[in-house]
Amino acid sequence: MKTEDNKDVILTTPLSLEGLLDNNFKPPNLLQLIFGLFRNIRPGTDLTRFQLPPSFNMAKSHLQCYGEMVYCVNKDMLSNCAKGKTSIDRMISVVAWIISTVRMFPFGVAPYNSVLGETHHASRGTLNVLLEQVSHHPPVSALHAIDEINNIELVWCEHIVPKFFGAYVEGVVHGKRKLNLLDKGESYVFNAPTLLIKFIPKTGTRWAGNVNVKCKETGLEAQLSFKTGSVLGFGGDNGSLNGRIFNSSSSKIFYEIYGQWDRMVYIKDTKDGMIKVLYNPKEVISNLPTPIIRDPKGLWQSESAIVWAEVNKSILSQDWNKAKNAKKAVEEKERELLRQRKSNKEEWIPKFFYLSYSPETGWECSPKQKTIPPAPIIFSI
Ligand SMILES: *[C@@H]1O[C@H](CO)[C@@H](O)[C@H](O)[C@H]1NC(C)=O
Ligand SMILES: *[C@@H]1O[C@H](CO)[C@@H](O)[C@H](O)[C@H]1NC(C)=O
Repeated sequence: MKTEDNKDVILTTPLSLEGLLDNNFKPPNLLQLIFGLFRNIRPGTDLTRFQLPPSFNMAKSHLQCYGEMVYCVNKDMLSNCAKGKTSIDRMISVVAWIISTVRMFPFGVAPYNSVLGETHHASRGTLNVLLEQVSHHPPVSALHAIDEINNIELVWCEHIVPKFFGAYVEGVVHGKRKLNLLDKGESYVFNAPTLLIKFIPKTGTRWAGNVNVKCKETGLEAQLSFKTGSVLGFGGDNGSLNGRIFNSSSSKIFYEIYGQWDRMVYIKDTKDGMIKVLYNPKEVISNLPTPIIRDPKGLWQSESAIVWAEVNKSILSQDWNKAKNAKKAVEEKERELLRQRKSNKEEWIPKFFYLSYSPETGWECSPKQKTIPPAPIIFSI
């Protein structure tokens, strides 16, 4: 696909249940290369400023990966959240939808660090999604999504802190995620699990830790625990999770949740012991097709697919020299803009979000606009 100024714009398959379907290049001596990368890094080091060579990149940016969790799904679980008759029904749908945002993260490749002001704008059906990289050091990404038909709004803020621990890298995902059911006046606030990327004794990636979901308005709460077994061995716990839905104030448990996010997740009613399928990943995130560019002229210059166009093209053709230079050019342009702002004493402000930070709450993002236009990039359904 070509843009107005004749740039090749390429979108690649989203992360799905099967990992990455195309663009899945892995150097034959991957582990050796990884140990080479980390040779001079001490355990406990924050890897935020660490730059990967392009042969370790998948052909998309962090912002795209982040947005795809929301708009790349074969089955719409999000609109269900607004359809439940009771507050408990709605909490159940919210929990199922949250599990559906979890993706298999491929080992050995990472997305590019999005540049400051980079945007990603995509739609699925009536859901319009707009993301912006609102800070570069530290990297903070903001997401706003609106489904006007179902009166659902998402406001997410994300700040990942990757740390190196010798045998593994841990990526703690800070930041609040909010799902607002606008005509119910309910807001569900939750966090994200932690990503573990393990090198020895076996390589692999896992999600770990607890996700807490709170709805202040209904007094309902849910907790999901992603199990890893022991950190080093990962144990036999493969994709396992368990959890419960309960009353915040009385702690009374209404439902128990168990299963594997990448196989099947069940929910059990504690009242009568009835068990149902809560989430079937095969229906929702298996073999996800590549989003398409419906309107190339509608792409902004800040769009991820445009910013990284040259790098994407060289990675997909496995021209590593060209990829290295193209990536350097993106980073150099960003440094140049920073130098210009410094010399003009200009402060950079996000275009679509208000951004704030406090030691208690961390980074918070809130959208400047109440609506999001339909996007030039669509996930077709
Ligand atoms: C769990 O194991 C199965 C096969 O044993 C594998 O296909 C799947 O990718 C594993 N899941 C995770 C999350 O590692
Ligand atoms: C939660 O428990 C409190 C205190 O027992 C009770 O007043 C409230 O109605 C309960 N809420 C729900 C949704 O069951």
